Amino acid sequence: MEVLVIAGGARSLGKYLSIKFSEKKYKVIVLDIDENSLNELKKENDNLITYVCDLTDEKNVINTFDNIDKEYGGINKFIYNAGYANSNIITKFEYDKFITSLNINLNGYFLCSKEVAKNMIKYNIKGSIAQINSKSGRVGSKHNSGYSAAKFGAVGLTQSLALDLAEYNIRVNSFMLGNLLDSEMFESLIPQYAKKLNIKESEVKQYYIDKVPLKRGCSFEDVFNILEFYISDKANYCTGQSINLTGGQVM
Ligand SMILES: NC(=O)c1ccc[n+]([C@@H]2O[C@H](COP(=O)([O-])OP(=O)(O)OC[C@H]3O[C@@H](n4cnc5c(N)ncnc54)[C@H](O)[C@@H]3O)[C@@H](O)[C@H]2O)c1
Repeated sequence: MEVLVIAGGARSLGKYLSIKFSEKKYKVIVLDIDENSLNELKKENDNLITYVCDLTDEKNVINTFDNIDKEYGGINKFIYNAGYANSNIITKFEYDKFITSLNINLNGYFLCSKEVAKNMIKYNIKGSIAQINSKSGRVGSKHNSGYSAAKFGAVGLTQSLALDLAEYNIRVNSFMLGNLLDSEMFESLIPQYAKKLNIKESEVKQYYIDKVPLKRGCSFEDVFNILEFYISDKANYCTGQSINLTGGQVM
């Protein structure tokens, strides 16, 4: 059974992906900072293996991947899903929130990918690394300077990792999602978006749906389907890409 590690997989999209991939041919290992959600997840599906890990803490990340190596050996697939968004106009954007965004969206991706790459090379695995990105990593995003800057940075990291790891046949790609309108992250941003757009909170989701040519938000299932293909051997000739999944909103 192939080993698939999901970083930031305890809640929301990550939880959905963890469960769906464990129902396929993968042994799924979930890393997350949120111990309670990891325990809940384990209760729902005890095939999942969980580790509490702060993905932004270098020592914590190194120890966690050392433990995974000791317990399970080689990693075949890795998905970096952890994200953080906070919305505000630049003149009021707090620097510590900008730094938090860089830490969770970008630096954690660096720290994990480094350990994953060492593991895949050690076991001579022609593996695949996927980073969950956003359309805000493709075009600038109003009142989202921290998020957009970090997600753009992650595209540069993906391309560089793809070049570093091509000689080992390890593929690295980013996935540029449209709005996951039913996610906790999007729900939490609704008050800030209503303020930015000067509309009622109840009108925010429809406002975002109207911007999408396919007239709906991105679903968790959309993300699973595209990831399942791109991390598989069927996408063997695809690396260093940032693949749009936006219902046509960003091309
Ligand atoms: N929600 C959206 O509308 C939307 C749109 C486009 C892209 N995305 C991206 O999709 C991904 C998932 O989005 P979501 O809304 O489900 O995110 P989320 O913030 O709800 O969940 C991310 C997971 O990461 C974990 N996490 C956060 N910081 C961590 C840390 N330091 N160490 C370990 N784990 C940590 C959280 O506990 C959570 O389980 C993110 O990368 C996000 O940027 C989301």
